[in-house]
Amino acid sequence: MSDILNHIDAGVMTLTFNRLDKKNSITSDMYAQLADGIEQAKNDASVRVVVIQGHESIFSAGNDIGDFLNKPPSTQDSPVFRFLRGIATFEKPLIAAVAGPAVGIGTTLLFHCDLVYAGDNAAFSMPFVNLGLCPEAASSLLVPRMFGYHRAAEALLLGEPFFAEAAQEVGLVNRVLPPTEVNAYAQAQAKKLAAKPLSSLVETKRLMKDGQQAEVLAQMAAEGQSFGRMLHEPAAREAFGAFMEKRKPDFSKV
Ligand code: COA
Repeated sequence: MSDILNHIDAGVMTLTFNRLDKKNSITSDMYAQLADGIEQAKNDASVRVVVIQGHESIFSAGNDIGDFLNKPPSTQDSPVFRFLRGIATFEKPLIAAVAGPAVGIGTTLLFHCDLVYAGDNAAFSMPFVNLGLCPEAASSLLVPRMFGYHRAAEALLLGEPFFAEAAQEVGLVNRVLPPTEVNAYAQAQAKKLAAKPLSSLVETKRLMKDGQQAEVLAQMAAEGQSFGRMLHEPAAREAFGAFMEKRKPDFSKV
């Protein structure tokens, strides 16, 4: 079965991370499927809402670290950047249902969703610094904007997890639910949206988001350049090597 499930029902496209044995970490093939799904949702008039979800025990462990080593994104057309631009410019409502850990892009993609529902077991983290990298998905712009600078610095410099209640307090999460109910609740909200006039949904979202879209895309491109360079530098090589060898990284020389 595919690592990304794409299911359409009653106007709602649901994209499900389906790689539980690797904690739903995302390979470049999976980014390509996600990007294709978003593109399909954009062009298919029968799709009115998209939901991105994981499993009740894990949303996503972020980028597949082996893939970072073997197939690092090399251009702005790489699947990961295609997916990120796709969600940043997606005109229809986009909902996320998050239970368990949401690491790296598992958290940063949420800043491009319109509604986020979380299990009370959700653990959000953006450990880019701990991997010798820098933020992506315009998170260096959107996290300070939503959290305030000092809370953003804590999340992005220390990279430690924060939990469902804190995420709701800063406005990243709309509602916290038992983990077994999150996906169903997101579906129910999606169905409500799918029954509304799409033209009004699209126009309302455009009016809320248009002002910052160019800035978001420019920040994503700038982050992408730094990220692409840093993937090949000693700090990231040490962090990825340590992850693969299941040891603590030693950054004393980088
Ligand atoms: N890339 C590749 N493989 C990953 C992965 C990732 N990002 N995250 C987890 N896995 C793999 C593990 O290597 C392990 O594989 P194995 O069974 O072949 O040894 C398997 O998934 C289970 O992971 P494990 O760490 O044992 O699960 P856990 O429940 O103890 O912890 C996480 C879950 C998500 C907290 C932990 O896996 C984690 O921190 N992963 C790395 C997250 C990360 O740094 N992502 C990059 C962000 S940019």
